[in-house]
Amino acid sequence: MNQSSSIGAERLQRRMTRGASFLGSEVAILCGAMSWVSERNLVAAISNAGGFGVIACGAMTPELLDAEIAATKARTDKPFGVNLITMHPALFDLIEVCRRHAVGHVVLAGGLPPTGSLDAIKADGARVICFAPALSLAKKLIRSGVDALVIEGMEAGGHIGPVSTSVLAQEMLPEIADALPVFVAGGIGRGEAIAGYLDMGAAGVQLGTRFVCATESIAHPAFKKAFLRASARDAVASVQVDPRLPVIPVRALKNAGSELFTAKQREVAASLDEGKAAMAEAQLQIEHYWAGALRRAVIDGDVEHGSLMAGQSVGMVTREEPVADIIATLLAEAAQALEKRAAA
Ligand SMILES: Cc1cc2nc3c(=O)[nH]c(=O)nc-3n(C[C@H](O)[C@H](O)[C@H](O)COP(=O)(O)O)c2cc1C
Repeated sequence: MNQSSSIGAERLQRRMTRGASFLGSEVAILCGAMSWVSERNLVAAISNAGGFGVIACGAMTPELLDAEIAATKARTDKPFGVNLITMHPALFDLIEVCRRHAVGHVVLAGGLPPTGSLDAIKADGARVICFAPALSLAKKLIRSGVDALVIEGMEAGGHIGPVSTSVLAQEMLPEIADALPVFVAGGIGRGEAIAGYLDMGAAGVQLGTRFVCATESIAHPAFKKAFLRASARDAVASVQVDPRLPVIPVRALKNAGSELFTAKQREVAASLDEGKAAMAEAQLQIEHYWAGALRRAVIDGDVEHGSLMAGQSVGMVTREEPVADIIATLLAEAAQALEKRAAA
């Protein structure tokens, strides 16, 4: 940290020590895995800038993940993690790929870890990070041996739960922050919020939306442009059209793709009705839909019909800039906030 002379910077460093030493990074800022966006370039840039990058495995095959990890390693010698989706049919093969590469941290997203997955990840000493959407689940995950938790509020981009970050943080940090490192995610656009969550007991924070427009991000220029133009209220949660089909809401910038998703839900619900698909298959179809729609926007630049997953902090993304500058700004804002508190 550059501002090491100020009281605020010292306070910040102290508050980030636990999270940073858990991650093996300089600062306790994770860039949450974002499918198609969090690949070798962004992940390496985040870790090289002192944060902690996480590869989004998404729907990748074990072979593709293997190549992605190798390419990331070629770009950074700093630690980074891999995010695996629990419902991936080849989950255990993907865990094996991470083990072969000695990936230090595996983030499990998309539901409770299947039996045996925690043991498989931890067998060679890797750490497991899980998402805890509620206090009861957090306690269950702690009992089952996870090493750290992310609590993510509904302000976030991508798949979301129903509760805001501020409420989750108040409800959960006092109960679990002593037991293990907890990283707070969702709606963080500036360092003042980082300082606030650290003061409440968080070990660190996870941001996604704020890093999408980094210079090193391979997101299509049209995707970045949509982010730069958008305000908080443009990032809306998808609506569930059929109560029998429990679709996890996704927060994204509103476009024609939002309507396409509504149509997709009707189609999947109809195949449930006709007995053509079981519930698990129906939900997998929805997830494949999102992966395809996000690719269409992030890689192909189709910002009309693709998915523009974005969090409410999108209004605070105002220019394309290098990852190192984004992290430096966040740290300076956080340090200044803590400095003000010291003076008060
Ligand atoms: C474009 C986009 C794609 C995302 N894809 C994933 C994903 O594949 N897996 C995952 O666990 N989280 C995903 N997320 C969530 C992020 O990892 C992160 O937790 C979230 O963006 C944090 O909230 P914020 O957007 O308010 O900063 C995604 C978010 C965005 C914006």
